[in-house]
Amino acid sequence: MKNLAVIGSGTMGNGIAHVFAQYGFNVSLIDLKQEFLDKALAKIQKNMDRQVAKGVISEVEKEAALGRINTFTSMPDGVKNSDLVVEAATENMEIKLDLFRQLDEAAPEGAILASNTSSISITKIAAATKRPNKVIGMHFMNPVPVMKLIEVIRGYATSDETTEIIMALSKELEKVPVEVNDYPGFVANRILMPMINEAIYSLYEGVAGVEEIDTVMKLGMAHPMGPLQLADFIGLDVCLSILRVLHEGFGNPKYAPCPLLVNMVEAGFKGAKTGEGFYAYTQGSKDLIVSSQFKK
Ligand code: CAA
Repeated sequence: MKNLAVIGSGTMGNGIAHVFAQYGFNVSLIDLKQEFLDKALAKIQKNMDRQVAKGVISEVEKEAALGRINTFTSMPDGVKNSDLVVEAATENMEIKLDLFRQLDEAAPEGAILASNTSSISITKIAAATKRPNKVIGMHFMNPVPVMKLIEVIRGYATSDETTEIIMALSKELEKVPVEVNDYPGFVANRILMPMINEAIYSLYEGVAGVEEIDTVMKLGMAHPMGPLQLADFIGLDVCLSILRVLHEGFGNPKYAPCPLLVNMVEAGFKGAKTGEGFYAYTQGSKDLIVSSQFKK
């Protein structure tokens, strides 16, 4: 396997393209507009500069890796020579089903089609194609160049061969793949999202403030970020949509999203990417400032 295509150049897509290029794969990075792709390339370059500064890769390796990434605004052109396509487009069921129908037509017959979805059913995505045995979940974690895990999700019809290829490939990226079955939230988000939701409920019910809740989890449980900061980092809209998948998929009220989370998303406070969530984010600043909405 040498030629990869990555669909979507947002945070996850550019991270996935970065890692594959770093480990010697030729990457076709695909998005709807050239300006999105230019922004993604600038981000990859910046993150690789960070790795050069830390001695993780050399300047020569960085240049070679960047040279292995080509950008495309036409999906059929981008995927036509690919052995594997990793889809990291918008987390929306209809968009993904439509994309996989098109990918099935455009990608070579033997290509594996993977999705980086954080909660949409791989079985359902696979059923939109004529190659469900070659469809699999490859769930990377943010920031992709740093996080070791790849949650490898087997849909109902995913073959052993496809799973083995993706497990081996993940190890080539020096990641640790973990094989899980396709049920709502898989494992990562089935466990992470109820914790985040419970942190939001603790705030909503006045048990403690934003910093207090995060400090308990950071210093008490050695989490690198508190759950409210992590929710901002993931995106509150993404957290809400995953909780809705869990709530609907299991029909269990324990997954019902906290009304405060729903309100924040409806008000446009979606976390770091919109500049404000539980914290307020100022360009270039590393200080965490609690949003004025939650100051006592
Ligand atoms: N590219 C390359 N390197 C990066 C990077 C990037 N995008 N982001 C951070 N780094 C590197 C830094 O250079 C630094 O390297 P050294 O350790 O060699 O110094 C290291 O990562 C740590 O970065 P920082 O010092 O800037 O900051 P930090 O110590 O606060 O760590 C963090 C940042 C790694 C993000 C850490 O806070 C963390 O682990 N947070 C939790 C992340 C997490 O839980 N991710 C999963 C989210 S859930 C998800 O992705 C899936 C889903 O479905 C919702």
